Amino acid sequence: MDTIIKRIEQLKKEKDIAILAHYYTDSRIQILADCVGDSYFLSKTATEIPQKTILFCGVTFMGESAKLLSPEKTILMPDSTADCPMAHMADIDEIRAVREKYEDVAVVCYVNSTAEIKAHSDVCVTSANALKVVKKLPNKNIYFIPDANLGRYIAGMIPEKCFILGDGFCHVHTSIKKENIQKAKELYPEALILAHPECTQDVLEIADYIGSTSGIIDYAGKSNAKVFIICTEMGILHELEAKNPDKTFYSVGHRQFCPHMKRITVEQVLEQLENADNLVTLDEEMMGNANKALEKMMVMSK
Ligand code: 13P
Ligand code: SF4
Repeated sequence: MDTIIKRIEQLKKEKDIAILAHYYTDSRIQILADCVGDSYFLSKTATEIPQKTILFCGVTFMGESAKLLSPEKTILMPDSTADCPMAHMADIDEIRAVREKYEDVAVVCYVNSTAEIKAHSDVCVTSANALKVVKKLPNKNIYFIPDANLGRYIAGMIPEKCFILGDGFCHVHTSIKKENIQKAKELYPEALILAHPECTQDVLEIADYIGSTSGIIDYAGKSNAKVFIICTEMGILHELEAKNPDKTFYSVGHRQFCPHMKRITVEQVLEQLENADNLVTLDEEMMGNANKALEKMMVMSK
């Protein structure tokens, strides 16, 4: 493994390629990345870093978002089969039907979606900025796709708007069960429960804090508490433990594991640095429309 890591370091420098990785990737990937973050931070970073080539260690929609926001850059992905199922859980015909039915509607698309779905939406959001962006929209009706749990959570905080929710979900977050959290809480009564808004409503109701992956990391760092029950994908434990050696973090089950993110291996990273042949490519017209929705998010989330 040491030889592979050395070769990765060498190729990164030689070819001036930046490696970005999401918190849910394997800890070995996070260690070798130049930048680790949540989906919002990573797509912003992709536009800001000087490197013209980015190796994006994340699922397809993340690489696509980087390409949409930085069309002039080359975006490489270690494994093109690492795809998020939720990204496909919205339907273009359904979007058209909602637009027909409601006059004053904004189609708000969670960034966990294909570029094609983004191209048919008015604005994108991530879990880190959804509340801020949707609050600023002038429209009375909000069609929130694909994630029903994030949509319901945001809807609860903006009662003045009328939400129509999609029916998408994340199988990793919906596998986190309230009963298991309660059992963990019996074992560690002093623990705070930190949850990602993709969790189901009953889980969110018992959480002490709800936020994106970076929100959870910030909260745990600032909190005076010493023990936490983490309700999101367990890859985040790498950063939480590295930043807080004096604190303890528990997950609540062996299924808090995103098999799509975990497909990405160190060997694939090396392979892409050597061959640079797994490029994110998108249809020109679709790119223009999808970029508008993402750019709008970037402006509205400031
Ligand atoms: P974040 O936007 O919090 O990084 O989450 C992305 C994701 O895929 C959650 O399942
Ligand atoms: Fe998709 Fe869920 Fe994996 Fe996030 S954790 S990438 S939403 S399957």
